[in-house]
Amino acid sequence: MMKPVVFVTRRIPEVGLSPVREACQMRLWEGELPPPKDVLLREVADCDGLLCLLTDPIDAEVIAAGARLRVISQMAVGVDNIDLKAATARGIPVGHTPGVLTEATADFTFALLMAAARRVPEGVDYVRAGKWRTWEPMGLLGMDIWQATLGIIGLGRIGAAVARRARGFAMRILYYDPARRPDLEAELGVEYAELDDLLAQSDFVTLHCPLNAETYHLIDERALRRMKPTAILINAARGPVVDTAALVRALSEGWIRAAALDVTDPEPIPPDHPLVSLPNCVVVPHIASATVATRERMATMAAENLLAGLRGERLPYCANPDVYTARA
Ligand code: DGY
Repeated sequence: MMKPVVFVTRRIPEVGLSPVREACQMRLWEGELPPPKDVLLREVADCDGLLCLLTDPIDAEVIAAGARLRVISQMAVGVDNIDLKAATARGIPVGHTPGVLTEATADFTFALLMAAARRVPEGVDYVRAGKWRTWEPMGLLGMDIWQATLGIIGLGRIGAAVARRARGFAMRILYYDPARRPDLEAELGVEYAELDDLLAQSDFVTLHCPLNAETYHLIDERALRRMKPTAILINAARGPVVDTAALVRALSEGWIRAAALDVTDPEPIPPDHPLVSLPNCVVVPHIASATVATRERMATMAAENLLAGLRGERLPYCANPDVYTARA
C-alpha cells in the first residue's frame, strides 16, 4: 500500500519525526526559516497530511491548495495562524498540543515577571559594561513580588498554572476571563475581577488568552492607561493581544513601569524596534515552551495527531472538534 505523503514545515525533535518518517513518505523543509508561501502552496498540493508550526500561515489559500489534505497537525497549542473555519469547511481536522507546555510556559512567565520586576537584564548589562564599582544603596531598585497583586488575563491551563506559582509568593491573585471559573476560585484562591478593575489594581498583569477577534489589541492605550504607573505587563500569549505602538508610548512616557515580552507584534521584532532598546522592556524570542522535554512532548503529540488523522481516526487533540459533528 502507498504510504501517505506528508509535508513537515521544519525540523522538529527526532521523537516526533521518526514515527512520521516510518509511516509516511515524509518531505521535510530543511530551511532555518519557515518555508515561503509559494513553497507551502506547492508542497501541500499533493499532500495527505501537513505538520506545521505557528510561524506558517495556514490560511484559506493554503487549505484550498491542499486538495488531498486530510489532516493538519500543528506543533503548538495556539492555532491563530490557521484558518480553522476553512479547515472545518473542508472537513480537515486540525491537531494541536495543549497541556504538554503548560508548566514550562508558566515557569517562564515567572522568569519574565521576575526579570522585569528585579531588573535582571539591566543588572547583567551593568556588570558587562564594567559599571559595577561598589554596592549601591539606590542602584537598580526594582519592585517587590512577595505579596504583590497579580492580574491574570485568561485563566485557562497556563493561567491557572501561573496562579499556582503565584501562591508561593503570597500574591493576591485576580483573574479576568470571559468564562468565570468558580472551581479554580475555590482551588487556587483567585478572585474574579472585571478587566478594568484587574488592570487598575494589579502590580503585575500577565496575559494568557488565545489570540482571536475578541483579544486582538485587548491591551490598547485605554487599557495601559488604566494600569498603575508602577505596574509591569507580561505577555507570553500572542504579540497582537497588545497594541505595540501604545505599549512603546506607555513604557517611554511612564504610564506603566515595565514590560516583559516573550511574544511581539511584529514577530520577530526587528532589532532596531524601540521596544528592543527601551531599558524597561525585556524582550525574548518566543521561548516560553523551549525546554528539551517540553519540545519533545510537543513533537510527539504533533506526530500522534498527524498519524491519527491519516488513519482516519479522531485526533487525540483537535482544535476544531466541530469538524466531526459537521461530518456526521
Ligand atoms: C504555543 O504552543 O502556542 C506556544 O506559543 C509555543 O511556545
